[in-house]
Amino acid sequence: MAEESDSASASDVVRRDRFSGGPARGFLSSMDEDVRIFAADLAVDRAHVVMLAEQGVVSDDEVTAILSALDDVEAAGFDALPDGEDVHAAIETAVVGRAGDVGGKMHTARSRNDEVATCIRYRLREDVLDAAEATIGLRKSLAEVASEHAETVMPGYTHLQPAQPTTVGHYLLSYEQAVARDTARLFDAYARVNRSPLGSAAFAGTPFDVDRERTAELLGFDGLVANSMDAVSTRDFLVEVVAALSNLATTVSGLAEDLVVFSNDGLVELSDDYSSTSSIMPQKKNPDTLELVRATSGDAAAGLNGLLTTLKGLPRAYNRDLQNATPHAWETVDAVSEAVAVAAGAAATATWDEEALAAAAGEGFSTATGVADLLAMAGVPFRKAHEMVAESSDKVGNTNENVAQSNVKESYLDALDAAAEEILGDSLDAYVEREAVAAALDPEESVATRDSPGGPAPESVAAALTAAEETVTADEAALADERESVAAADEKLRTEVSRYA
Ligand code: ARG
Repeated sequence: MAEESDSASASDVVRRDRFSGGPARGFLSSMDEDVRIFAADLAVDRAHVVMLAEQGVVSDDEVTAILSALDDVEAAGFDALPDGEDVHAAIETAVVGRAGDVGGKMHTARSRNDEVATCIRYRLREDVLDAAEATIGLRKSLAEVASEHAETVMPGYTHLQPAQPTTVGHYLLSYEQAVARDTARLFDAYARVNRSPLGSAAFAGTPFDVDRERTAELLGFDGLVANSMDAVSTRDFLVEVVAALSNLATTVSGLAEDLVVFSNDGLVELSDDYSSTSSIMPQKKNPDTLELVRATSGDAAAGLNGLLTTLKGLPRAYNRDLQNATPHAWETVDAVSEAVAVAAGAAATATWDEEALAAAAGEGFSTATGVADLLAMAGVPFRKAHEMVAESSDKVGNTNENVAQSNVKESYLDALDAAAEEILGDSLDAYVEREAVAAALDPEESVATRDSPGGPAPESVAAALTAAEETVTADEAALADERESVAAADEKLRTEVSRYA
């Protein structure tokens, strides 16, 4: 059978002799990218011809011959396809080569325009579900480490400066929650990807009595892209998916950056599996893997930009520019899904240094806000409390120290007392006990008091963990449902096809 695909009889049935050569042949071809939609095209062909038989447009015998040729084409594989300007033309050429003229009936009542749009959506569904699965995997890693370190105190930063103490659990859940929104955006996009353009033909529909709902059902789509001109023209579903992926990659780039910085500061150690060595400096252990995760956000943003600028200003209906839009989506979904899986592995295997974290948590007078909060809770207007703490810390001088642990604590309390006299006209203990202030200076105490919903206190983190685990479970179930309905449609199509054996 294979020789047929290489023989002269396999000249492109779409282009024929008049347009079969020329210098632009390679330029026009999407064959290299189309390997990705080879299986999709076979499914679309099968669903289409089964529907044509059911509608009496093509006879059962003719459809039997076409389906049998499609089986041969599938068995021979993508690499055995005859030359063609795209996978659709190549498969049709191969079907005609095998089945003879009757193979030419496969393309009745359709165009490559509705065909390719259907193939992209069919294949992209799988990729979006894989990407969603990667996000869920990352969230599980983050939640698991967050539960191990729910109470491990660490420094929290603003402007890269130590700002307030928090916990590793609270910190990691901040990313879990963000990535959960990325999962939701992917699911949301999926619902609009999962619609069938098939039966729109070139853009103006067809005089044949096609059953669009039937092909949609056989291909597992959840309804139609109704307007036939919109159906073949739009690639907004690619934009939506790539935008969601780009957003995801941006979120994950922040996580990667944090881990690079924290490992540099000795707060966390990356597993060797996610580190690199230097070719010259023998002492080095570098966070290259996470740097590449960080860089993936650039690739994703480029993919989104490439897609949008390719689509901008395209007139109705089909234009060949659309062929160049598609690979941006494939490249982005592959790069981002891989980066997310790698980030999950790096996060799951990193070792947090509790001692170093505890020591760093008090640096830079990170509990200053806690002291101001304490005064404000005792009735001092917060702005005055802020002023008192600012003034007293200035007097103590070196705010890089851990005020709670160092010998500056007593002199700090004296300075705060003086600030109370000056700013409030009263002594500090008219408002708060010295011991209470001393406690507020302690990072662990500081974290324990911040029990507002979503805050770092152990009970708040425990509640957030429960919520995160519930959302993960629900998202896993939603993912399994979508995969099952695709698999069920696949099975249905197989059954319908087998009737023509
Ligand atoms: N390979 C083409 C694409 O990806 C298929 C559609 C060709 N249609 C056409 N009218 N030339 O868009």
